[in-house]
Amino acid sequence: MSDGTPAKYGGEPVREELLGYGGQQIRQQDKTAVSDALDGDYITRGPTVERFEDRVANVVGVDHAVATTSGTTALHLAGRAAGWGKGDEVVTTPLTFASTAHAATYTGAEPVFADIDPETRGLDPDAVRERITEDTQGLIPMHYGGHPADIEGLLEVADDHDLTVVWDACHGFGGTWRGEGLGAQRDMGVFSFHPVKNITTGEGGMVVTDDGDLADRLRRLRSFDMDYAPEGHEGEPWYQVVEGEGYNYNITDMQAALGLSQLDRLSEFKSRRNEIIAEYDDAFGDMAGIHTPPATEEADPFYHLYAVEIDERFGCSRKEFVNAMHAENIGVQVHYVPLHYHPFFQEEYGYERGMFPEAESVYDGVVSLPLFPEMSDGDVEDVIAGIRRLHRYVGE
Ligand SMILES: Cc1ncc(COP(=O)(O)O)c(C=O)c1O
Repeated sequence: MSDGTPAKYGGEPVREELLGYGGQQIRQQDKTAVSDALDGDYITRGPTVERFEDRVANVVGVDHAVATTSGTTALHLAGRAAGWGKGDEVVTTPLTFASTAHAATYTGAEPVFADIDPETRGLDPDAVRERITEDTQGLIPMHYGGHPADIEGLLEVADDHDLTVVWDACHGFGGTWRGEGLGAQRDMGVFSFHPVKNITTGEGGMVVTDDGDLADRLRRLRSFDMDYAPEGHEGEPWYQVVEGEGYNYNITDMQAALGLSQLDRLSEFKSRRNEIIAEYDDAFGDMAGIHTPPATEEADPFYHLYAVEIDERFGCSRKEFVNAMHAENIGVQVHYVPLHYHPFFQEEYGYERGMFPEAESVYDGVVSLPLFPEMSDGDVEDVIAGIRRLHRYVGE
């Protein structure tokens, strides 16, 4: 650790090895679990996947959990199970990863962006109301960083307009809101188990729901939309019927074994993340020009990201901040370039910059600092030292 000149301006970096912004923690027990699964009868989707689904349903507090190959494919299945399609509109946030909106686009529905509440960085219910038309069929809020969006306000809009809600809870697995699991609010909740997320299966995702019909539909779509025992074909065990356009989004027993083993350390992961967050809050709470993430009284979130916002009082732009951190070997990241800035959403749906001022203003300052359980105390100190030395240097 060094307090001198920032590396970007000629000093020595605070650390030699690059620190990423997120990453998995793999222990011997994870390796043993995966290796044991390889000795089982199934190395595709088998009984371990069912056990993983049951444990996840239990953690979230829902009746059904359907595992898939990623958060993206989980969102796809949720959009299909919701029954969205061509001619439908689905309201979602522009400050998210593209997969959130693809829950609509993959089905042929149009993603209709609404602006965010800059405090929660999730959808603003009033902005959602303004975007409702007679074609609106659904709503996909996203819990940015694991911080709950305005769940009550958004459910009210959904009730008033009879919308199917798919919560993109990819950032918030393991968190609670008013004592309920995040993602458990109707109609479906979606998680990602990518290595940077709260637990990992390598790649993987899950849709959770209390609705048995939706769960059946999700399971069917996950495996080719195939009826394996169709009526009228009793005594013909080979006769399987494709009833629609389904997918192969089957996750394997090896991945589920890793997921189960990671679930054993869920509270450990959360405590470590919270310790790091407390250190960051302490270090940056009073620093000029750096806005720390909001607190919440209604929830016990499991934070995936610690995203600060940098403003002019810091003494440099967000771009200079990111590049200065990278020069220190601190791999900060930006979540996200708003979806309406991307060529796909502009060319397909006519979006332009300037349409969602709150999302744009958050985007202009936002930076995610490294946050993951494998970070050592020294890693956390490096991040704090790197930011302090930059602040001192550019703030003068
Ligand atoms: C908000 C959000 N939704 C969906 C996804 C997609 O998840 P996956 O990477 O598991 O496909 C991500 C992943 O980065 C995400 O951050």
